[in-house]
Amino acid sequence: MPASWVFATNNLHKLEEVKQAAGNQIIIQSLAEIGCTEDLPETGETLQDNARQKAEFVFQRFGVACFADDSGLEVEALGGEPGVHSAHYAGPQRSSVDNIHLLLARMEGKKNRKARFRCVIALVEKDEVQLFEGMLPGEIIQTPRGTGGFGYDPVFVPEGETRTLAEMSLEEKNRISHRAKAMRKLIGHLLSRQPSKQSL
Ligand code: IMP
Repeated sequence: MPASWVFATNNLHKLEEVKQAAGNQIIIQSLAEIGCTEDLPETGETLQDNARQKAEFVFQRFGVACFADDSGLEVEALGGEPGVHSAHYAGPQRSSVDNIHLLLARMEGKKNRKARFRCVIALVEKDEVQLFEGMLPGEIIQTPRGTGGFGYDPVFVPEGETRTLAEMSLEEKNRISHRAKAMRKLIGHLLSRQPSKQSL
């Protein structure tokens, strides 16, 4: 029976992505499965702070080993914006369409379209917190394309690609995404502590 960890997120797209990346090596439980229906605190000034805050909240309330991610889009020409504010860039209503609209407006006339997605995962067990990071470099296009994924996917074309993340399948995105990269580091770490499970 593989060991299990709670993924402290309310985003079902992310949960699905992470479950797929984890395969059958590790059981990933959702917040719903442990009966956590509260909004997770997310008031930090950095991706690290937020990931840690969410994972510690669940660990303290429910006493389960868990991890949380925080991710964001960092655009070079905007000095790293929207960054930690990616989810509510256009205001507290958190609409992806509004966020994309504002991003494209702020990038109007900018020649440098370079951007990256960055993901930080905080793993909290007992009194210990560990961080894992993944990045996906690419660029912001002028007009949204595609219907898959979420957030800024329709305007982000990964380096070496011609399609946006929203034009890729979940499997394709999972192979290259910032979250998948951070997840692979996390899973490698968890498995390295359970030598008997590595050969399964
Ligand atoms: P959080 O990690 O849930 O706080 O994510 C912050 C925001 O970053 C999300 O609401 C999205 O707007 C954006 N974001 C994070 N990961 C992705 C992704 O894989 N694709 C598109 N947008 C993303």
